[in-house]
Amino acid sequence: MTTSSAPGKIILFGEHAVVYGRPALAVPVTQVHADVEITDSLRAGIWIDAPDIRLHAELNTLPSDDPIASVIHNFLFLSGVSPFPSLAIKITSTIPFASGLGSGTAVTVALVRALSAHLEKQMTDKEVNAFAYEIEKLHHGTPSGIDNTVVTYVRPVYFIKGQPIETFTVGQPFTIVIGDTGISAPTKESVGDVRRLWLEDKLRWETLFDQVAEISFTARRVIEEGWVNMLADLMNENHVILQSMTVSSPELDRLVAAARQAGATGAKLSGGGRGGNMIALVQKEKASAVADALMSAGAKRTLITTVS
Ligand code: MEV
Repeated sequence: MTTSSAPGKIILFGEHAVVYGRPALAVPVTQVHADVEITDSLRAGIWIDAPDIRLHAELNTLPSDDPIASVIHNFLFLSGVSPFPSLAIKITSTIPFASGLGSGTAVTVALVRALSAHLEKQMTDKEVNAFAYEIEKLHHGTPSGIDNTVVTYVRPVYFIKGQPIETFTVGQPFTIVIGDTGISAPTKESVGDVRRLWLEDKLRWETLFDQVAEISFTARRVIEEGWVNMLADLMNENHVILQSMTVSSPELDRLVAAARQAGATGAKLSGGGRGGNMIALVQKEKASAVADALMSAGAKRTLITTVS
């Protein structure tokens, strides 16, 4: 049996602007993860069992654009595995689906790693990352590549599209409360809407992206130096810009306000927006009060994580 696991992620700063070449910061969230287990099967075929999404099927019965099928087909094709082996693949995940925590990306990364180990087709992290990026492009249109990078390397990432991967250090650990609106919001849609609006008024949007770039650039320095208090303002500023980019929503704004009222010093949406998650910067001792306030304000679930 071969197993593999990949974590969730949050974007701390710079979502959307990162698609347009500006820097963004993301960190892994290891309390949630996608897990893949592969065993040789006595039944002919590649049998997929993904109970969380009620998928129990043989590979060839799935449409070719099915996210899981496309990972397996692409892997088998690129690695030249022939004839197809008989396998049983079990996929489970504790990462909420379509919530901005990188659930699909984590399944891709865990699945390709498990396949490459089980079928003895070695892949480096760089190859896993490049593979996952190609899969992201199939399903998400114009992704920046930040999600697959942070999920593959499981380290804080300062990401600029097309540039070598840079990680950053955390001068002083800080606590983040993640609040999930419970509203499923595919990243593809918000990224597509931003693209349409950018095409209509590039000058305005480039200015917004530049403002975000400034925030991400400063945030990296602030995190590395351990100036946690300064992070809060940067998060709040980033949220205002995300609102003017139209990617927030009444539910996200409500959770952001509730978090601040309960003592979070900064809060913003995280990821594609419209639904999905928001994040709040808190002092460790206030984390559970902020999490409770988020639940009272309508969050479907919360997670407390330390960035270190
Ligand atoms: C999604 O986690 C982050 C976005 O910036 C999209 C991307 O970078 O591909 C919204």
